[in-house]
Amino acid sequence: MMDSIMTTYGRLPVTFRRGEGSYLYDTEGKKYLDALCGIAVTSLGHAHPKVAEAISKQASTLVHTSNLYHIENQTKLADKLCQLSGMSNVFFANSGAEANEAAIKLARLYGTNKGVENPHIVVMKGSFHGRTMATLSATGNKKVQEGFGALLPGFTRVPYNDLDAVRRVAKKNEDIVAILVEPVQGEGGVIIPEDGYLKTLREICDKWGWLLMVDEVQTGMCRTGEWFGFQHSGIQPDVMTLAKALGNGVPIGACLAAESVNDVLRPGTHGSTFGGNPLSTSAALAVVETMAAADSKTNASEMGEYLHTELATALAEVDGVKLIRSKGLMLGIVLEKDCGELVAQALEAGLLINVTAGNVVRLLPPLTLSQQEADEIILTLKTLITAFLQQ
Ligand SMILES: Cc1ncc(COP(=O)(O)O)c(C=O)c1O
Repeated sequence: MMDSIMTTYGRLPVTFRRGEGSYLYDTEGKKYLDALCGIAVTSLGHAHPKVAEAISKQASTLVHTSNLYHIENQTKLADKLCQLSGMSNVFFANSGAEANEAAIKLARLYGTNKGVENPHIVVMKGSFHGRTMATLSATGNKKVQEGFGALLPGFTRVPYNDLDAVRRVAKKNEDIVAILVEPVQGEGGVIIPEDGYLKTLREICDKWGWLLMVDEVQTGMCRTGEWFGFQHSGIQPDVMTLAKALGNGVPIGACLAAESVNDVLRPGTHGSTFGGNPLSTSAALAVVETMAAADSKTNASEMGEYLHTELATALAEVDGVKLIRSKGLMLGIVLEKDCGELVAQALEAGLLINVTAGNVVRLLPPLTLSQQEADEIILTLKTLITAFLQQ
């Protein structure tokens, strides 16, 4: 169907009209179990009453003033995020890519201030950091970069989960000032590095005076079973970026800095008209408060384990299922062949999933998921994957 929307997305043939909790309803009234959450965004489920109330109250009070003035909700939210993460201060943006832009600029300025003429950031193969020119240059996926001319220089790429590769580039390149890394690669196929990976990256950064910057756009906000993915490793990063679930659907991104670098971005060095406005920060405050009260990280951890174990059992006898990877409620079922068509088949069956890296069925269900809903996902997936692999 041709409409007046730019075709940047190949869309599935469905329009949703309403959501409630883990479910979406289309224009025909058909019900779907949302095991994708708008790609890790609606982590508290759809139309969460606390978030809806906060947005509605704020919308009828004050939506926008700009960052030329103090914003109460923004200050409160920054304090909460710093408390939860051990970081020192926050720059608010409107998306994950923008949060990473801020991180990239912070690292470059940090380098410049140290006298590094041409600051470089170590980035990973298979990574995803966004679609702006700087963040697609940092992204480790040729398909994302192709056709857009000269990429932003200043990125040194190494394989993910390969500490020796990082050590090697450290010796060769004096211009390196930072590492930018996802605690778990999401778009890359739910790739979980070996235990100790972030801890050793931290040590390498300390040895060379680099910043450790974690892209928690997908892994943050309780998704992996901790508030932030780095917290599984017992380290502190220098910079962390957030977006996606932070506003449960209201666009907001954040770049958090540790105390040692909390004064790198100074007046005039960076900005955003909308970033952290009263409306988006009211939503995010409600998200943080609700996640804390509901102990979302524990549910993510427990339901993640349940889904992993039960899926493994359900798919044990199915030929062509390679393995399941998971961290909290970030799950990837790796098949032996590409399986993009499963997305449309699942939609037909009333289940929203995603396929990434060609052959990985990716699940990012709400952190509020119940056992009954988990069972529904498992049953539908077992039927679909079995039929697909027998074709
Ligand atoms: C790890 C990571 N970083 C950055 C982004 C980009 O976020 P956005 O689409 O909000 O710009 C994504 C989006 O999938 C992501 O997964």
